Amino acid sequence: MAFLFEPPASVQAEAVNALFRWSLLLCALILTGICGALFLCFRKFRAPRNSSSAEQDDPPQIYGAKKLEVIWTLIPAIILSFLAFFTIRGMVQVNPPAAEEHPEVVVAGHQWWWEVRYPDSGVVTANELVLPAGEELLIGLESADVVHSFWTPALAPKQDMIPGVQRHLWITAPKPGVYAGRCAEFCGAQHAGMLLRVEVLPRAEYDAWLENQRQPAIAASAEDNARISIGSGLFLSLTCSSCHAISGTDAHGDAAPDLSHFASRVSLAAGLRPNNPENLAAWLRDPSSIKAGVKMPNFHLADQEVQDLTAYLSSLE
Ligand code: CUA
Repeated sequence: MAFLFEPPASVQAEAVNALFRWSLLLCALILTGICGALFLCFRKFRAPRNSSSAEQDDPPQIYGAKKLEVIWTLIPAIILSFLAFFTIRGMVQVNPPAAEEHPEVVVAGHQWWWEVRYPDSGVVTANELVLPAGEELLIGLESADVVHSFWTPALAPKQDMIPGVQRHLWITAPKPGVYAGRCAEFCGAQHAGMLLRVEVLPRAEYDAWLENQRQPAIAASAEDNARISIGSGLFLSLTCSSCHAISGTDAHGDAAPDLSHFASRVSLAAGLRPNNPENLAAWLRDPSSIKAGVKMPNFHLADQEVQDLTAYLSSLE
């Protein structure tokens, strides 16, 4: 529930929230008026106790009251036009056309994870969207397969991600913080297992984060550690690299999440488990035991292989 009622943390979410509050207030007033009128009618026109059957006959039936009909058509039409005006104005204010603007980041939906690309720096990551605070940012939205929907309730309205269509959202988040996101369009077996973590950082921290992500993934000491070295060999020879990329290595696959700085991520499997060596080992042994229907196959790895791969991936800070 905390997720559903996350308070707005961006200019755009605040505008949507304000529209929702005013609409709710208006609807509450209408409901109160209707219930009040109904209640008064119940009291005023109630048949008296012990009244004879003659007195309980139907009241006079009136057909065709033009004046009434005009009134009860006009009043809802005015109320709906009023709501439509503010809704359309809100849509234009919150998500104006992007024109030729260049997105700070592009998020692409996949079954069932999020690809996150920073076009200017070439950084690619997955399932965690990091943004600078206090700036009006253009977020590009795409889909690699079916229709997904980008939904970060505290930051922006929902926006569908449609294959072959470029869409966008504007996000201006004044304060640093961590916000929840998820897919809001049914997209297959693991639609519910498609969580996005959004972290808003002060500009300086954001720049430092981006710079770190730009560096090759292999830690300087990696070669010193035999297990990590064996794990990196396995990653290439077991064809993990056909689907996953790791910068600075020969792994360039783009069908599955980029793992360049995998160990710096908070969660595994698009938000389903905390990212720690135990969960990673369980994932490598049988991905579908954690995420039924996941596209990553079970490679039936030997225990030693699981350990070596876990050591390698856990070293990719
Ligand atoms: Cu992606 Cu639902």
